[in-house]
Amino acid sequence: MNSPEELTILAISGSLRANSLNTALLAAAQKHAPTGVRVELYEGLTDLPPFNDDLDTPQTVPASVTELRSLIGDADGLLIATPEYNYSVPGVLKNALDWASRPNPGAVLDGKDVAITGASPGNFGTSRAQMALRQIFLATRSNVVVSPETLVFAAHQRFDEGGNLIDDGTVSLLRSTLEVLRAQILRNRGKRR
Ligand SMILES: Cc1cc2nc3c(=O)[nH]c(=O)nc-3n(C[C@H](O)[C@H](O)[C@H](O)COP(=O)(O)O)c2cc1C
Repeated sequence: MNSPEELTILAISGSLRANSLNTALLAAAQKHAPTGVRVELYEGLTDLPPFNDDLDTPQTVPASVTELRSLIGDADGLLIATPEYNYSVPGVLKNALDWASRPNPGAVLDGKDVAITGASPGNFGTSRAQMALRQIFLATRSNVVVSPETLVFAAHQRFDEGGNLIDDGTVSLLRSTLEVLRAQILRNRGKRR
């Protein structure tokens, strides 16, 4: 039997913290990815300058922005892990999405399939940040997975001291999120043919 085609999912954490729960969540998604899914971790968030439309010309666009756009463009889909900052997404994540939303039309986020997750030590598991992120992806005309909603509350209790995800329920939720994203990518690809 043929093995299924492997799709590449670019995973973007919205946290710059070395011991970030959200980055650790994406490392777990990479480790536990289901068959047919390869997760690549984006590591360039800290290199992106604040968005400035004046810099966005072929002569002056920052190399870090070109890299982000080409990584998103080449990926079959995205998995975003957002922290919740003051009920919304961190500025650094919004900044990355603003860069990736240009040029418009023709942005790499347009029509891109996206799954959202987020980890918080609190009880709401980034639900408010995830809603804000969904609103941003409305503007970029990206196709966000509706269900499952992958809210990782009390997240500090789900990892060991080495940052490894040790909660089986969360592992299985991450796997099913990636399975749904994979199915959505293949479905949407069929529609475009
Ligand atoms: C500026 C700031 C605002 C925050 N606001 C919220 C919030 O609105 N809701 C929440 O659940 N946690 C909030 N937190 C706590 C974060 O969820 C927590 O720091 C989390 O670990 C950040 O994600 P990270 O571990 O991936 O860096 C906030 C933290 C910071 C630094």
